[in-house]
Amino acid sequence: IKHFNANQSLAGQHWVITAGPTREAIDPVRYISNHSSGKMGFSIADAAQSFGATVTLIAGPVNLATPSNCNRIDVQSAENMHEVALEQTISADVFIACAAVADYKVAKISEHKIKKTSTNDEMSIELVKNPDIVASVAALKNKPFTVGFAAETQDVEHYAKGKLARKNLDMIAANDVAKQGQGFNSDDNALKVFWHNGSIDLPLTGKRQLAEQLVVLINDRMQDD
Ligand code: CTP
Ligand code: CA
Repeated sequence: IKHFNANQSLAGQHWVITAGPTREAIDPVRYISNHSSGKMGFSIADAAQSFGATVTLIAGPVNLATPSNCNRIDVQSAENMHEVALEQTISADVFIACAAVADYKVAKISEHKIKKTSTNDEMSIELVKNPDIVASVAALKNKPFTVGFAAETQDVEHYAKGKLARKNLDMIAANDVAKQGQGFNSDDNALKVFWHNGSIDLPLTGKRQLAEQLVVLINDRMQDD
């Protein structure tokens, strides 16, 4: 991967990045979520702003400091994130969906804390599908250069390419979360990046460095399109 030069300054570009998990409420005290740390998305935001982009970071609940010069918007649920993403995307040149969005939300959020019953040993919660944020951004008439992530535990290339096509993305960055020391919660990551007629392996390294490589790659691909 080549290094960034003055010609590749991102000044004047608006990059919108989603990061972290979402929280889907069950009742006033409980929720469904996942182990996403938000580190990859925050690192990408930091890398993009360091090259001069105007960055909006749409963050689920994470324990991370806001990278300097980034406009951070905190959200909770996938629906929340969807709304903000569509709002922000109107002016975006690049949209990167790094968030681990809950695929399903609770059909009817209980107004009060759900009580344990003495008669039933089992209980179930009905779930309904959340909107697909990155697919709705990619379906816009004025779509930004749209990048998805794919966290897989098997058949990484097959599933990633399927998502690239199905969601009409310009690029997808896949990582194998079954491998030790990369992906969810880790400080390091490795990515296999695919676009319609190419791919590249970005080997295991710190997330901030990997983020910089990805930002350079996105900028290269945008100029080639
Ligand atoms: N994504 C999204 N909105 C959703 C679900 C996923 O924007 N409701 C985005 C993620 O941020 C990621 C990409 O879609 O960039 C792929 O997410 P992933 O969970 O791997 O794919 P899914 O389509 O949800 O398929 P599955 O979870 O079944 O593998
Ligand atoms: Ca999913």
